[in-house]
This record gives sequence, structure tokens and C-alpha cells, in this order.
Amino acid sequence: MENTIISLVGARPQFIKEAVIASEVHKTNAWNHILVHSGQHYDVNMSDLFFEELQIPTPKYFLEVGSSSHGKQTAAVLEKFEDILLQEKPDLVLVYGDTNTTVAGALAAAKLNIPVAHIEAGMRQYPKNMPEEVNRVVTDHLSSLLFCCSELSYQNLQRENITSGVYIAGDVMYDLFLRMKPRFLKDKMLQNLTLHEGEYILVTLHRDFNVDNKESLLPILEGLNDYAKMTGLSIVFPMHPRTRKRIEEFDLATYLDSMNIVEPVGYLELMGLLEGCSNVVTDSGGLQKEAYYAKKQAAVIMPDTGWKEIIESGWNQLVPGNAAKELLPRILENKFIAYPVNLYGDGNAAKAIVKNIMTYLNK
Ligand code: UD1
Ligand code: UDP
Repeated sequence: MENTIISLVGARPQFIKEAVIASEVHKTNAWNHILVHSGQHYDVNMSDLFFEELQIPTPKYFLEVGSSSHGKQTAAVLEKFEDILLQEKPDLVLVYGDTNTTVAGALAAAKLNIPVAHIEAGMRQYPKNMPEEVNRVVTDHLSSLLFCCSELSYQNLQRENITSGVYIAGDVMYDLFLRMKPRFLKDKMLQNLTLHEGEYILVTLHRDFNVDNKESLLPILEGLNDYAKMTGLSIVFPMHPRTRKRIEEFDLATYLDSMNIVEPVGYLELMGLLEGCSNVVTDSGGLQKEAYYAKKQAAVIMPDTGWKEIIESGWNQLVPGNAAKELLPRILENKFIAYPVNLYGDGNAAKAIVKNIMTYLNK
């Protein structure tokens, strides 16, 4: 009998990962794939845009949980997703990354004795109390199949005595990057935003510890302005709605005067901006890897990152938010570093993941 798998997504980075898995499942006719969207992200340019651009099939179910506190949002996904699991009775649940949607999906499935497969397992970083770290740790401990992007993630799981069902598959985002590269919209973005190649810094920010209080956000905005002034580069900043709301709330809009602030853009647009930029300043988990894939260096505005391999190679640099004013303007000093190859696989992660899941289900 054909197996049924429910894949649960809800936030921007998960749509991107789902696109790669869904395409591989479709190609190999691996199983009956049911897509569920929690509704954690819901703005057109935080959700629909990705489904259109990346040709992700329309989800069978929308849970429409929307934004709220961590407990409420996680609980809403847990409650609504359980109903779907009871109705569809899948053989396995697939979850991605580290969002509230991820942990709620894993918990709902585990309580019903449905095996969970976690894509991007074994990532660990400080601070341990950051919401994404809590979500990762819990999800990994509930999962039967754990797909790591690197050897380091694999070792992290070993240290926590998670030893069975663990595979190093590589990063599905690298698969997507390689596949979509010919479609990246560099020329369109340079033209639309009147930019010159190599003459701007691409910025994204959305972590709670960076943007949710004024004392954290201010030195980052000051550092960005100083950085632009010192280098003569301009700043292009597709702004996450969370950050936009905080900047308004803290009355910091004047710090954006000399920046090119745009709404969040689609994947092909962002990758186009990435290809055309000088370098990157970000606290995005995804974009710090994509910068490396595009051979652009990134200042990672975090005290620590799960993507340590890129830091250890010297390619990206950690810049804790409270040191951003001092460190950002000096970041270009370390520009010439040998490019470290294949830190997160060779672009065939989805193939390995689908194959291992099929083997597991057909045992
Ligand atoms: C979430 C994930 C984070 C991931 C990020 C990707 C958790 C705990 N965090 O963080 O791991 O890196 O998604 O972008 O799950 N908002 C809108 N429109 C939207 C979505 C959000 O206006 O479509 C605003 C709301 O004010 C909301 C805030 O952004 O309260 C934060 O959204 P939320 O999904 O809670 O967290 P993210 O910061 O997006
Ligand atoms: N992204 C995008 N447009 C944007 C910002 C991000 O297409 O304006 C994509 C990009 O591929 C990135 C992914 O969304 O890697 C996830 O980004 P985000 O920073 O929201 O989440 P994180 O990776 O930090 O969980």
C-alpha cells in the first residue's frame, strides 16, 4: 500500500525547504504527500509569493493560526494539526527547521505515535533560551529520522544520545540554490532599485534578541549607517514585518533615512539581490548560508550561530548586536579568505532524504 506523509510548513524558510522535498517526492512518486500550512506566516510576500515562484503545490489544509505569543501560537498549531493527523492517519510527519510550527507538529505527531522526520536536525547554538533553540532541541528529541546538514550537527545529536535514525544529508537549501540559480533576478532587482552591482550591502534582520528592544536594535542600526558611510556602499534592506513594527514602535525610523528599505521580497528576487551585492549583514539562518553559497561574505548579527562551519572557515563573521556599532564598519578588513567548498553537501540533500524515508517506511 502506498505510504502517506504529511509535511507541515508555516514560515518563510519552510516553504523554501518544502519546495525541494515536494519536487523530489513528485519526481520519484515516493509517497502520497499531503501539505499542511499552519499560517504562522500569512502576508502575501511572506507566504503566497513563495508558493507561486517556487511552484509549491497548494496545501491541502490551512490552519490559519496567525501571529500570537509563543505559547498561544504553538498551542494553536498543536490543536489544529492533531485533528488533521487523526483524520488523515499518515505514516510519518515531516517537519523543517526550528519554528513554533515545527515543534508543534513534532509534538502532535509524537503523542499520536506517528514517526517524525526532522529536516535540518542537530543544529545547536547559544543563547540556549532563544525560541528557535528550544524548538530544535525538543523536535530532535521527538524525531525518529533526523536529517543533518553537516557532520557537526550529527555530532551535536550524538552528544545528546540521539544516535539512531540520524543521517548527514546536506542542506536542501543548497539543492534549491543550485537549481534556481539560472532564474535569480539580479538584473531586474538592480534595475528596479537603481543599484549598481557590487556597490551595496544586503541587509536582513528579524531575530527577537536583535529587534525586540530598543537597546539592542539601536547599535545595529547605528553600525549599519557607519558601515555604509565608511565604505561608500549603500544599504538594501528587505524588511521583515516584525522589524518594521519595532522600528516604528521605538521611533527609530530616522536611522533608515539613507537606506533602501523594501518590503520582504520573493526568493528569486532576494537571490538576485544577493548575487549583485558587495556583502551581507544578516541574522537570518538561511541567508547566512545562501551568502556563502553565492560566495558573498556575511556579517552574522548573532552572539553564536548553528552554522558554525562557515564561521570557523573564516568566511562569515559573528558580530553580536551589542558590538555592531564598533565591529560592522571594520568587517571588510577580513575580506580575502579562501572559499571553503561543500560545507553542507553537494546539492543532493533532497534525494538522500527521500530515499532514507522510503527505506524507513518500507522496513
Ligand atoms: C519565525 C521563526 C524563526 C524564523 C522566522 C523566519 C519562531 C519562534 N520563529 O520568526 O525561527 O527565522 O520565522 O522568518 O517560530 N508578521 C507579519 N506578517 C506575517 C508574519 C509575521 O506581520 O506574515 C509579524 C507579526 O507581527 C508577528 C511577527 O511578525 O508577531 C513575528 O512573526 P513570527 O512568525 O512569530 O516570528 P518570526 O520573527 O517571523
Ligand atoms: N527570504 C526571501 N526574501 C526575503 C527574506 C528571506 O526570499 O525578503 C528567503 C531566503 O531564502 C532566506 C529564507 O527566506 O534564507 C528564510 O529567511 P528568514 O530570514 O525569514 O528565516 P531564517 O532562515 O532565519 O529562519
